[in-house]
Amino acid sequence: MRIEVPREAERLGATLFYGVQQVYELDAGLVRGEAEALDRIIQPVAYEAIEAVCSAMAVVVPVRGERIKLLEGVLAGIPHACLVIVVSNSDREPIDRFTLELNAVLKYRRLTGKQVVVVHQRDAVLADALVEAGYEALLDESGRVRHGKAEGMLVATLLAALAGKRYIGFIDSDNYFPGAVLEYVREYAAGLLARHSDYAMVRIHWHSKPKIVREALFFAKFGRATVVTNRFLNALIGYYTGFETEVIRTGNAGEHAMTMELALKLSHASGYAVETRHFVDLLERFGSILENPSPDVLDQYVEVFQIESRNPHMHDISKGDRHIGSMMAASLGVLYSSPICPPELRAEIVAELRRRRLLRKDELPPAPTLYPPLERVDLEAFAEGVAGEPFTAALLR
Ligand code: GDP
Ligand code: CO
Repeated sequence: MRIEVPREAERLGATLFYGVQQVYELDAGLVRGEAEALDRIIQPVAYEAIEAVCSAMAVVVPVRGERIKLLEGVLAGIPHACLVIVVSNSDREPIDRFTLELNAVLKYRRLTGKQVVVVHQRDAVLADALVEAGYEALLDESGRVRHGKAEGMLVATLLAALAGKRYIGFIDSDNYFPGAVLEYVREYAAGLLARHSDYAMVRIHWHSKPKIVREALFFAKFGRATVVTNRFLNALIGYYTGFETEVIRTGNAGEHAMTMELALKLSHASGYAVETRHFVDLLERFGSILENPSPDVLDQYVEVFQIESRNPHMHDISKGDRHIGSMMAASLGVLYSSPICPPELRAEIVAELRRRRLLRKDELPPAPTLYPPLERVDLEAFAEGVAGEPFTAALLR
């Protein structure tokens, strides 16, 4: 891969947001010697380096009722060296879709020898292990892990931590292009290789999203909700730095990867709020606006890379595109409810949501459900709780 070094960066306290980086070659050939890598604004990333990151990375694939063919394509796109954790919340009746997924994945694992783990997020063993580990926040009234993609991702993050992985990346299971999946994982690796800190995150900025407009393909670049979310996130950063900025471009980007150190420190939100919350959480914790809860991070930086992918992003839209209105309300609700949101910005958020008829006159933006950082989990107790399960055998080997 050949990728540009970030041209701009915004710093706030111990957070460092890099501008979007373009990819010039998906495959840059063999990297010969240091000379080529030095003093260039466009840098080659060696195969071996990408492979090394992949073998330290767990790729989490959340699934809920997707067609098996799509899931199989996604698995085919993930580099062999990665540990794959499929976390499902698919129905078990009237048709047991989870068992269909399990069988497909086990067959795939046999044929490729790739390390793949499958787990159902509503499995009672997981819930009990979480109780043992002191993390009931994730459970609902029935005593099982709550429904939802964010909740599945948190469970999978813990499993990746048990497996001793250094990095964790997320790839939706409804992606039509295995080639795009491969590209995202390589970009995760390229970003993580460029980090200087133990606390780093890489987010994918889609090059385009194909749509049918007037019976022809149209490659849309700007999501309607994303544009609004980015505008407000940038306004928040500008408020504190005193300089207007456009640095944030991935305020709603779902495809992302992190170092495990960072994944365990963040407090994650549920539902549509999850991505925007990452940014707000970083600023709350490490932006030196509020008191910083983690002095260990302050002597480094938290680095956020944004990489523009080359493949168009095409996921399953037959289930209806994300509801743009609720996505916008949830994203701006995250910002609105944060203690670092200045009153001026709060007023603008309310005005924006009312203008779009996403809020009634007497309503305020919705506050997100937040989960405490996973570093609170007693990992040893969690490991004991899941020991002996089929999915841990593959994790702990
Ligand atoms: P969108 O792409 O953001 O519009 O949302 P999708 O409905 O495509 O969901 C994103 C990914 O999360 C897909 O791979 C879904 O199969 C998966 N997913 C959705 N809900 C859940 C859930 O409750 N649990 C898990 N584990 N995965 C989910
Ligand atoms: Co989707």
